[in-house]
Amino acid sequence: MGQFLDSVPFSGIIRIRDMMYTVKDPFRLDQGDVSFDAPETVKNAMRRAIDDNRSHYLQTTGVPRLLELLAEKLRTKNRIPIGSADEIMVTTGGIHGLFIVCQALLEPGDEVIVPDPEWPPCAGNIRAAHGVPVPCPLHERLGWRYDLAELESTITPRTRAIYINSPHNPTGGVLTAADIEAIAALVERRGIWLLSDEAYEDVVFDDAVHVSPASLPGAYDRTISLYTFSKTYAMTGLRLGYVAAKDPVLRDRMKKALFYTASNVASVVQFGGIGALEGPQDCVAAFRDELKARRDLFYDGIAAKAPHVFSGAQPKGAFYAFLRMKPEWQPPSESRHESRSWAMAEHLIARGRIGCVPGADFGANGEGYVRFCFARDRRELTGALESMGRLFASR
Ligand SMILES: Cc1ncc(COP(=O)(O)O)c(C=O)c1O
Repeated sequence: MGQFLDSVPFSGIIRIRDMMYTVKDPFRLDQGDVSFDAPETVKNAMRRAIDDNRSHYLQTTGVPRLLELLAEKLRTKNRIPIGSADEIMVTTGGIHGLFIVCQALLEPGDEVIVPDPEWPPCAGNIRAAHGVPVPCPLHERLGWRYDLAELESTITPRTRAIYINSPHNPTGGVLTAADIEAIAALVERRGIWLLSDEAYEDVVFDDAVHVSPASLPGAYDRTISLYTFSKTYAMTGLRLGYVAAKDPVLRDRMKKALFYTASNVASVVQFGGIGALEGPQDCVAAFRDELKARRDLFYDGIAAKAPHVFSGAQPKGAFYAFLRMKPEWQPPSESRHESRSWAMAEHLIARGRIGCVPGADFGANGEGYVRFCFARDRRELTGALESMGRLFASR
């Protein structure tokens, strides 16, 4: 790749992270990390793996027991008609799954339609594979969903795939079953691929339901489904994800990309994944219930402390508040940013110690918004809200 990588942008989230290191006693609402710890089942399985000297090379695509458990999970929970465990590949987190899929699928100049706003590594991974991310807006007025006619009109002869992410980072929008059916029919009709990033499949609230597109009749043939243990089992730092794809040619290419970037995913971590899937699943619902309570706490807090600054409806999925900045808010006179969302983020970080990510970092359609992660513990959220109250009271 060499020089070409100079043209692939880093996410602004990294810039924000660096700014946060300069802040004393920060409220870390910037990064998408949960405050929970991985369940005991995961930790015990990793301890056992260490004691049993599971520190040697493994099969490139994953340890067989983990692949079997994942096949079963995908069949029963996601209702995807997995033929055999060979159709699954274990990756170093969801981001690595997307990397190997883009490397395997894209030719130089191939277009991939991505939501705008969107999690920045999505476009970065497409660019790193010499592809071209083509944004298609998600609309706040539609609950951060697509206008489906607009989505179809974004397809060109160069379009290779549509990437969707539901529940969605950064907006928390969840596509309906009807949306998923329409998108699956669209990719079938237009002969393109569907990349379905289901990182937040277990974080859905209220009446929202998560539907895996590959579960629809015939859709698995052209849908590549991406998952991670990061959010469901609070394993963000352990780096464990997986991809399911039916096409053997594509899988052969993905396997090469996997081998040349990881050889195999860290052995002890894979045994942690086995522990997560073999153990009781109550932590998944417990995390979700607590995240819902934190969402409510955060939105009530915003309504009480900064109603003249932010607005936005509660999200139905994921764990981010993507708040619209009211036009009345004026950046401090010393702000040098052209982007209002960057000016706001800098203000919140420098004056309020509150980590957040400017909406502009997620795409042009994100300008005018700021993202806060509400997966932090209640004390941290309350501290951030109180700080915000003081900051915006002293205008
Ligand atoms: C939309 C989306 N996909 C995938 C991931 C991948 O997570 P990880 O690489 O930690 O497994 C994330 C993490 O923030 C995400 O927001």
